Formats: sequence, C-alpha cells, structure tokens
Amino acid sequence: MTEYSLLGERILESPIDSTTSLLEKINRDVINFALGSPAQNMIPTQAFAEIGNTVLNDASAYGYAPTEGDSELVSSLVSFLKSQGRNLDPASIVITAGGMQGLDVVCKLFINPGDTVIVESPTYPSAFMTAIGYGANIIEIPIDDDGLKVNEIDEYVNRTGDIPKMIYVVPTFQNPTGRTLSLQRREELAGLARKLNCLIVEDDPYGLIGFTNDHIPSIRDISHADSHVVTVRTFSKIMAPGLRVGWLEVDPAYTDKIIAARQCMDTCANTVSQRIVAGYLDSGKVQNHLRYLCSQYEVRKNTLRAAVETAFLGTVHTSDPLGGFFLWVTFPEETDCELLFKEGLERGVAIVPGNAFSPSRQLRNCARLCFAALDPDAIGEGVRRLAEAYYAVDAVRAKVDVA
Ligand SMILES: Cc1ncc(COP(=O)(O)O)c(C=O)c1O
Repeated sequence: MTEYSLLGERILESPIDSTTSLLEKINRDVINFALGSPAQNMIPTQAFAEIGNTVLNDASAYGYAPTEGDSELVSSLVSFLKSQGRNLDPASIVITAGGMQGLDVVCKLFINPGDTVIVESPTYPSAFMTAIGYGANIIEIPIDDDGLKVNEIDEYVNRTGDIPKMIYVVPTFQNPTGRTLSLQRREELAGLARKLNCLIVEDDPYGLIGFTNDHIPSIRDISHADSHVVTVRTFSKIMAPGLRVGWLEVDPAYTDKIIAARQCMDTCANTVSQRIVAGYLDSGKVQNHLRYLCSQYEVRKNTLRAAVETAFLGTVHTSDPLGGFFLWVTFPEETDCELLFKEGLERGVAIVPGNAFSPSRQLRNCARLCFAALDPDAIGEGVRRLAEAYYAVDAVRAKVDVA
C-alpha cells in the first residue's frame, strides 16, 4: 500500500457516522438514538416531489451552479432569513454541501499545523476531528447550563500565553448536550475573539428548532457580522440531510478564498438539491413546517426524558434542552457507556457514548440520545432495551479506574 500523506494519516473516522454504517450491517431491528437525523415521516416529501417535478424537467438544474451558490437559492435564502428578522448581504453567503463542508473549508483556510483550536467539552466530534485533520492542537473548555465557560478561555490564555487561532462553538441547542450559550456569554465571547484576534466558528444547525419563543441572537449578529465570526448553517436538520445543502455566513472579504477552496474541492453544491431547497423556501410552507417540527420534537424530548428518568430510578442526570435533537444523560460515575453501547446493540438499541464527544475521551459515564428521529412508542421501547442492558451486565456499572 502507498503511504498516506501527513494530512491523510491525521484523518480519523467519525464515531457517529461509523455507527450508521455499522447499523446498516446488523441484521436486526435497532432503535437508533445514535444518529442525529430528523424523523423520516417529518420530511416534507410531498412538497419536495412537487417542486422536484418542475426542477427535474429543467435542463439548467443539471448544470454547474456558481460556486458561491445557485442565484435562486441565495435570493430565496436571503428572503427566508429576512422573515426570521435577519438582514444578510447576499455577498456574505456561500452555499455549501451541508454543514460539514462549511466546517471543512473553514478549517482548511484558517488552521496551520500546531494552531490551537478551543472547543467546548463535550462537543460535536466531526468538527474537532476536522480541525485535527488540519493539524490543530485541541484545547477543551468545559460547559455548564449557560454553555461554554468563556472566562476559562481567558484564564487558559493568561496562564499559558497560548493564543487560540479558532474557537469552535455550537451555541444554540448544542450537539451533544442541548444546552444554549447565554446572551451575556455570547457577548463576552465576541469581545474575547476581538481582543485575541482569533476566529469564532459558530456552528448552528439547530437554532431554528426551538421549543419556546425565547430567541437569543447569533454571535455573528451580536458582533455586527465582523470578520472574527464565521457562521456555519445547514438545511440538514430543518429539511433533510440527504439534500446536502447548507451555507456559510461570512465577512464578504473571505468569500473569494472560500470559493477558491471549493473550486479545488467540488466546484459547487448539487444543483438539483439547491433548486429543491430554493423552491421549498419560496413555497410559503417553511414557517408551518418549522412550527410542526418544533412541537413534535418537544413531545419526543419530554417522552425520552421521562422514560430515562423512570427507567434509571433517579440515578441519572438528564439535560433539559429547549430545542434541537439531543438529550445528554449522565450516568453514575462508575458507568462505562462504551460497554453500554455494545450491550445495548446486542439488545437492539443504539446510543453514542460520551467519550466520542471529547478529544481527550473524558466522558465515559455520559451518553447522547437523539430523540428527533423516533416516535414516542419507539422511544419507550428503546429506553426499556437500554435499561435492560444497563442492569443485566455488571461490567457496565463496574468500578473503573478514572485516573
Ligand atoms: C453541530 C453540527 N455541526 C454540523 C453538522 C453537520 O451537518 P450536515 O449534515 O449538514 O453536514 C451536524 C450534524 O449532525 C451537527 O450536529
């Protein structure tokens, strides 16, 4: 075999995406709390089919789109964001093939090998693995109920003199805990990034899936769209992940470089998908769809949280997300959630062990459960199977060396 490049060597697989492949191969029904996917029966397939009928009959939809995005989609997106109370300059938008591509391009353009990237602990693994792929040195800063402990970044910098190049944060209904960064901390973070001259990468796939009317402005909006904040967005959670369409919100000074990076990668996002997303944004159905998603996902969150608390007899702590897809469960300290994952799979239930969300693999007794994709009956049965795995296998609860 030919040797991989240094970059190739550093690339790691995603524990979550790998679970999807693993489950495809398992020959039994598995209740899947592992994948952060929208519910299949909540994907607006009929509307997509109607729009798709027009799109698929239009030869121009099979051509290359401009790298920055199909102009129909960019203008539909600007109108949609306006309906959300946000005025964006079209020049600040670059359409991507989902949120992951946005993260990849940003890491590619801004990280040098050895640069420090600050992440929340826990955080979304594919993001820190992308940064590691480009040679980043990852520093984990804990979060609490108000999100990332911004003052600890300041303390870290004062203690070590190490100025981060990038701070990666999922501020709203975070993956994996569902927590939200408070307004005060968003302001502090924006100020810190300006002071340190580092880049905040604000990754926001879940912000439109809120269960209450409370709305905290994005870090980018708080910072008046200055060049220290790049925001990564996606249609994967509010429409469908298989469309692979997302967008970046950036200082227009960065767009030429982002476009150049994309031209060396995939030229443009899938034109057919972009037209379908544009058609759906223009259809007038999005607001109702979002309201429907939020109400259904809130019921699922409440069902999962109640089922977990009942099944584990008050020994666990669960987060109480006010939006998004995920419940974060903290089991007693001696629990080994990697073993719980394996035992759960034997009994037909999949979770993601907490270690996956920490580069230093510190969260052995925690797990992420996605409530969005499953209906309430499946949620109940899934938790029953998980509790069976937990209580049946002593080793799951054995004392572990937590040095
Ligand atoms: C925080 C976060 N960022 C990015 C992504 C990737 O989104 P996409 O599927 O659009 O690439 C996800 C998906 O789970 C996510 O949770």
